[in-house]
Amino acid sequence: MSQLSTRHLLGIKDLTPEDIHLILDTAANFKEVINRPIKKVPSLRDITIANVFFENSTRTRLSFELAEKRLSADVINFSSSNSSVKKGETLVDTVNNILSMKVDMVVMRHSSPGAPHFLSRNVSANIVNAGDGTHEHPTQALLDAYSMREKLGDLHGKKIAIIGDILHSRVALSNIFCLQKLGAEVMVCGPITLLPKHIASLGVKVELDVKKALEWCDVANVLRIQLERQQIKYFPSLREYSLYYGINKKLLQELDKEIVIMHPGPINRGVELSSDVADSEHSIILHQVENGVAVRMAVLYLLAGVKG
Ligand code: CP
Repeated sequence: MSQLSTRHLLGIKDLTPEDIHLILDTAANFKEVINRPIKKVPSLRDITIANVFFENSTRTRLSFELAEKRLSADVINFSSSNSSVKKGETLVDTVNNILSMKVDMVVMRHSSPGAPHFLSRNVSANIVNAGDGTHEHPTQALLDAYSMREKLGDLHGKKIAIIGDILHSRVALSNIFCLQKLGAEVMVCGPITLLPKHIASLGVKVELDVKKALEWCDVANVLRIQLERQQIKYFPSLREYSLYYGINKKLLQELDKEIVIMHPGPINRGVELSSDVADSEHSIILHQVENGVAVRMAVLYLLAGVKG
């Protein structure tokens, strides 16, 4: 297979395992390209892409922009904070105005779950979800899977623990779908208040004790405590969270094996991860960021090849 089964990337839920393997294999080729002295290829020379961000971002926005430029696409950037959205313009009007400038693809981050799905039904461009509220963050899951596969080989049968604020995390849901489609076993771990009530129905193991999760897994993907999405108190204090769920060097040294530590960023240093773990030889956090460019190049390149 050399073509995706979809013309939008809205969520991992919609992808087949073959789509995921195709994206990861294509990303491996692009990783080789971006490590050459001349990092640019002409693949998307006639394509214009709008990066439309209604929510803050550092990694995802920069990574998409770099991926687009490495593919020779024309790029325009929009952020809601300094736009006419502030004057009451709707999402569809905003995007239709951008599209009338002959834009082919829209990469969108929005705080509302389902916003990119809504857009895909109302505009003609290919839509890429760069994170929709607490729902999905598909390119993060793809770059996470790529980074795990690069480190451990085939993910079939590998044990991945996702630790932290699962309730508010779009990364968690996309990772669960992606890893299961690749044949990995998935566990979620965190305080009971930060685990969705019916999470076990997704076929994941559920663990409240972080030591047991670390003993079980090959990879710990540690998630940020998303204070900006928490309207009530889910745990007594950050100090207590860090005491019971923070991953530090001592916890890793007590294990009888080496595990891989990941984090999608941004990190709350000293809360979910101590600096001596985040910056240690166990951590592949910066490899994740590096791989994000190649994975996003693969997504954009493959979507451009799917005709509507
Ligand atoms: N991992 C991630 O989505 O980071 P940003 O919010 O900085 O894009």
